[in-house]
Amino acid sequence: MKTVNDITILKIGGSLITDKSSDFGSPQLNEIERICEEISICNKRLIIIHGAGSFGHPLAKKYNLKNTSNINGGFLTHESVKELNSLFVKQLNNKGSKAYSVNPLSNCISKNGRIVEMFLDNILIMVEEGIIPVLHGDVVMDENLKVSVISGDQITTFIAHKLKASRIGIGSFENGVLDSSGNTITTINTSNYQKVSEYIGPSESIDVTGGMLGKVKELLELSRQTNTTSYIFNGRVPNNIREFLNGNNIGTKIEK
Ligand SMILES: Nc1ncnc2c1ncn2[C@@H]1O[C@H](COP(=O)(O)OP(=O)(O)O)[C@@H](O)[C@H]1O
Ligand SMILES: [Mg+2]
Repeated sequence: MKTVNDITILKIGGSLITDKSSDFGSPQLNEIERICEEISICNKRLIIIHGAGSFGHPLAKKYNLKNTSNINGGFLTHESVKELNSLFVKQLNNKGSKAYSVNPLSNCISKNGRIVEMFLDNILIMVEEGIIPVLHGDVVMDENLKVSVISGDQITTFIAHKLKASRIGIGSFENGVLDSSGNTITTINTSNYQKVSEYIGPSESIDVTGGMLGKVKELLELSRQTNTTSYIFNGRVPNNIREFLNGNNIGTKIEK
């Protein structure tokens, strides 16, 4: 596999682009437009991963995809998240970016719900050509479970590790990781993780992939393995995404 330097990886939470209180596919079209506008201004090498939000989690829950290999449920969930991906990619192109959909079902395999392999050569050519690959939380084929659900958060850290990304951020619903008083925790590392994990829970909406705790675990493990630093910040605040892409550090920093 070739190497491409200076890749930024940004995950856009499903909580930002859908109404996660809904139990089926409610896109937040105005927010998709605003977010795509902020992304389109960036001229860095960029990979975007978005969450499934209300297009994925309620279906994954309905068909119990975390625990059973429901083939038809997997199909319906995949088709639904693909629809959200299509809305997002079309809007990015409307805003002047060159962006292509990359569906994880087609380029990735997992084992017991963890990605073991993902084909990345196509993504690297896109990045080199100034095309933004846009992946998403998805249903993928699993060596043991047959069908499993892979979160956008897991895809983010897998790609960040493999491609040695230089900047990694997750835009989500809160100002970062919050403590018990609702204040943003500035830094999470291996030394304070035990203490702060007491404040971190799953999502308040339906989210089968672990909510905020899932993100922190993924990013902390990434920092342990690769010594990278990443950020969880509020993507609902206008200009935060643009600021992050410009190199400004906001939200909670996760480091080794
Ligand atoms: N300590 C915490 N700080 C911030 N959010 C938290 C915390 N504990 C639980 N959460 C929940 O996690 C949610 C973010 O996770 P999730 O719903 O999976 O977002 P996304 O759709 O962006 O992946 C927050 O909206 C909040 O409901
Ligand atoms: Mg989530």
